[in-house]
Amino acid sequence: MQYRRLGTSGLQLSALSFGAWVTFGKQVGRGEARELLALAHDRGVNFFDNAETYNNGVAEQVMGQGKVLYWGTSEWPAEAIHEAHRIARENHLYAPVMEQPQYNLLHRERVEEEYAPLYAAYGMGTTIWSPLGSGLLSGKYNDGVPADSRLAQPDYAWLRESVLGKGDERVGKVRALQPIADELGCSLAQLSIAWCLLNPHVSTVMLGASRREQLEQNLVALEVLPKLDATLARRIRTIVEAA
Ligand SMILES: NC(=O)c1ccc[n+]([C@@H]2O[C@H](COP(=O)([O-])OP(=O)(O)OC[C@H]3O[C@@H](n4cnc5c(N)ncnc54)[C@H](OP(=O)(O)O)[C@@H]3O)[C@@H](O)[C@H]2O)c1
Repeated sequence: MQYRRLGTSGLQLSALSFGAWVTFGKQVGRGEARELLALAHDRGVNFFDNAETYNNGVAEQVMGQGKVLYWGTSEWPAEAIHEAHRIARENHLYAPVMEQPQYNLLHRERVEEEYAPLYAAYGMGTTIWSPLGSGLLSGKYNDGVPADSRLAQPDYAWLRESVLGKGDERVGKVRALQPIADELGCSLAQLSIAWCLLNPHVSTVMLGASRREQLEQNLVALEVLPKLDATLARRIRTIVEAA
């Protein structure tokens, strides 16, 4: 495992972390959840994500509860984060130390552009979610929606359109990325996760997994990172930025 600073908070987070959305208490029962948590912890993960809304609180019950020592925001507009820092400064309160935005090869603007002024101004880090775009960037949806996948779940029909988009533009980009993963001898999921870590403002990449083999595979993504040189990064950008 590698560790990164969470902005200037003093905290060190594992570069890869693990979250419970969709999976815990739904696709993944208590026993499997314990196995996944133990696997992640054994591989050096020290940051686990959950929310009271995940499966109506069941995901939190499965993971266990903790104490709040630091706080952050999730998907707040940059303007609201500036305001939170101003209020904290003027009232001698704790300011947020992190933002938790979606960030992946197909969803970049907020992290790369909107938040750009925040990193230096407030020393904020990011704990980014959906590095695989709910699995799209593993290539699993290239030929349709597998019956046992996240997007096949009836409760998550709303997610299906935003992940797959209209037409086949998004899936087309995913298909075009596959040869780069093949050249590197890694899976597309590993390439997509490693790519997120090229951004120095990403403090940790929060992984999601519905089964052990996914988490095993994704935790090895760090080995791909040193192979992503400037030329490859440019090739990747050209694919995802194509109209
Ligand atoms: N703050 C927020 O608003 C917010 C929002 C969303 C998520 N989060 C957090 O971020 C965490 C990660 O987000 P995410 O779960 O959306 O991450 P993700 O990596 O984009 O998607 C994870 C899903 O992709 C599939 N998958 C993962 N690895 C795979 C592989 N190697 N091959 C094939 N399929 C694979 C699995 O789904 P299937 O097997 O079911 O297809 C898995 O559950 C969440 O668990 C949650 O804790 C936060």
